[in-house]
Amino acid sequence: MLAERPLVAGNWKMNKLIAEATDFVRELLALAPDFEAVDAVVFPPFTALAATGEALAGSRLGLGGQTMCDNVSGAFTGEISPLMLLDCGAHWVILGHSERRAYNGETDAAINRKVHTALRLGITPIVAVGESAEDHAAGRTHDHVVRQTTAAFEGLTADDVARCVVAYEPIWAIGTGLSDSPPAANRVMEQIRASVAGLEQTRILYGGSVKPENIGAFVAQPHIDGALVGGASLSAQSFYDLMVNARAQE
Ligand code: PGA
Repeated sequence: MLAERPLVAGNWKMNKLIAEATDFVRELLALAPDFEAVDAVVFPPFTALAATGEALAGSRLGLGGQTMCDNVSGAFTGEISPLMLLDCGAHWVILGHSERRAYNGETDAAINRKVHTALRLGITPIVAVGESAEDHAAGRTHDHVVRQTTAAFEGLTADDVARCVVAYEPIWAIGTGLSDSPPAANRVMEQIRASVAGLEQTRILYGGSVKPENIGAFVAQPHIDGALVGGASLSAQSFYDLMVNARAQE
């Protein structure tokens, strides 16, 4: 790990009603996680964002949106403005998650516009990149992730890029239980880090079937600064265990 502290990011996807989200926060904060040694952020669905923001107010647990619009207001039915994220206390956003790319037609160009907007408004983007099983098998991982990464950060200064976070999530590892091996993920992440000026200073997270049992082995790698976690971030106990085991590798 290059960063001072690991970052554990919990992507709840389309899970949790409002009461479930606020219960999670109460349970997690009652477990008294050591926020001095690890940064942690949760990404609830939009309907639970405001209530989650109220539940975690005053704590060191961060809040983020799972996507956002690249415009700040206007005639964009169904979209969520970055100002609305800030209004709920959310200072983070996941951009370019593979599920958004696959099911919602998010393009590299749209992701790039959103990165620019997020930075302009002081929201930290976690830019997700990753190759399909087919590209992985064909040896195209490097070309694919470097293309996605350079497209996402186009037109930004190295200083702006350094304010972002990247998540490397091989699509074949998401929700499958088949995580990449830590050394293999580290090699790809080293290539991502070298692809755009400014990334040498940013946190790069691994994502794809991360669990409390394997997060330590990922964070022990030199280019892995934390994890973007789906399934294992849904229970407070499991999220707490992720934080503890990420920290243990420092
Ligand atoms: P997973 O999801 O941890 O359930 O594999 C990761 C993600 O999609 O961010």
